[in-house]
Amino acid sequence: MMDRVAIVTGGSRGIGRAIVDRLVRDDVRVITCSRSSRPRDLPSPVVWVRANVADTTDAEGVVSEALSSFGRLSLLVNNAGVQIEKPVADSTDADWDRVIGVNCRGVFNMCRAALPPLTDAGGVIVNIGSISGVQADPGMALYNASKAFVHGLTRSIAIDHGPAVRCNAICPGWIVTGMADDAFALAKDPDAARLDAVRRHPSGRLGVPADIANLVSWLASEDAAFVNGACLTVDGGLTAASPLNPGLF
Ligand SMILES: NC(=O)c1ccc[n+]([C@@H]2O[C@H](COP(=O)([O-])OP(=O)(O)OC[C@H]3O[C@@H](n4cnc5c(N)ncnc54)[C@H](OP(=O)(O)O)[C@@H]3O)[C@@H](O)[C@H]2O)c1
Repeated sequence: MMDRVAIVTGGSRGIGRAIVDRLVRDDVRVITCSRSSRPRDLPSPVVWVRANVADTTDAEGVVSEALSSFGRLSLLVNNAGVQIEKPVADSTDADWDRVIGVNCRGVFNMCRAALPPLTDAGGVIVNIGSISGVQADPGMALYNASKAFVHGLTRSIAIDHGPAVRCNAICPGWIVTGMADDAFALAKDPDAARLDAVRRHPSGRLGVPADIANLVSWLASEDAAFVNGACLTVDGGLTAASPLNPGLF
């Protein structure tokens, strides 16, 4: 376990931070990054790199830092992501550059830079996709499409780079973070929308970042050795329901 070295992108807050904390508890040596300064409460053994994953040189720099700090790389978690709440007709070129730059190019940049050392180590990639890459959330066109790209890239890496590298995606549902709050804020009545969302979760609650971090931990382990090219939904059962309006039955 102590030999494992992981990169987690977007570890400053939210789901990424929970993944960092979980991997540290799993005795993995962790490098994480975001566009901001190092968070004050980040555990001291964690290596911090200020980097924008949409930038090819920055992405390569994160992988170089992992190799210079620890000599190897065994796990890449592509978590960094952004969302813009607009339909296609209102989306600008700048919106395209931002969402596609981070959510698509960023994941591609990190995978391309990390694949050589991951191949040497027999490593693992976990990409954070979304249920929005399968079902469309209203008013989030570029975001929805960007997550479908993540799912597709996950399958391609699995088939092109196996058996040396295993690659899977996690498709979270509603996980309570700043990003989820921004999406609920789109509703005419955000509190009513949140209450309605909770009611439609068979698990009776929204998700928390640790729900995703727990699956990252398992996917990175030998227990998941035969799980490859999969997009695993973690949404408290939300998308298990038929699209019929349950209030009418
Ligand atoms: N929350 C949900 O309900 C939900 C549902 C499905 C999927 N997801 C996915 O889960 C992932 C994490 O979401 P979250 O809710 O934790 O979001 P969040 O709270 O907004 O955190 C996003 C993280 O990504 C970093 N980041 C953003 N752009 C970056 C860039 N260009 N380069 C490097 N780091 C960057 C942010 O740090 P800086 O701003 O400092 O760069 C932050 O650390 C995303 O991929 C998101 O699409 C979330």
